[in-house]
Amino acid sequence: MTDILPEDDLHVIASRAKAKTDISHIHAFLGAKTSDKWLAVAKDNLPLLMQDHANCEKKAAGTAMNLIFRYEFHRDLQEKLAQLVREEMLHYEQVLELMKERGIAWSHLPAGRYAKGLLKHKRTWEPAGMIDVLIIGAFIEARSCERFSALADVIDDEKLSKYYKYLLKSESRHYEDYLALAQSVSDEPIDERVAFFRAVEAELIDSPDGELRFHSGVPDFV
Ligand SMILES: [Fe+2]
Ligand SMILES: [Fe+2]
Repeated sequence: MTDILPEDDLHVIASRAKAKTDISHIHAFLGAKTSDKWLAVAKDNLPLLMQDHANCEKKAAGTAMNLIFRYEFHRDLQEKLAQLVREEMLHYEQVLELMKERGIAWSHLPAGRYAKGLLKHKRTWEPAGMIDVLIIGAFIEARSCERFSALADVIDDEKLSKYYKYLLKSESRHYEDYLALAQSVSDEPIDERVAFFRAVEAELIDSPDGELRFHSGVPDFV
């Protein structure tokens, strides 16, 4: 990779003993903890997980870009999501490079049930739809953070573990930005809606799932 800041260079990330970003607020926000079974299966299937992770970074950037076009009137959203798009695309490049280093060929991997399972509850009228999609964004970012942190502790690939720790800082900020943006477009507290999506998200994480993906539920195929 060329033309990136030194702190975002994978060699620099790998060479530093980075203290883990505190994500206790994210654990408090989420309604379920990743199961030991998911972690064990994920640890044994890192090539698939990395492909799905790459897909998620690209999807995160694409979704945010769509929001930038759809909600042009919201100045703060423009700024926050422009930065987010830039960071997600950097992550995409980094994951591709990490895959290449490990000899993992690109493969087509369809998305799992997770994002669809959240988005099907998005209300169709505005500003409710905007509030919901931003809350969903917050949950996806928060869950990513929780899983990077958990994976960093169990995988044997030291460089990848450091990379996952590196991601915690930006992904936890993305969670905070999405949540703050959701509140900013609502005249009323969004707590009830957040609680609703917390329960939906926890169910997707805690229930049996026939596929392994970065945001999949408890593997029921092993
Ligand atoms: Fe990312
Ligand atoms: Fe993110």
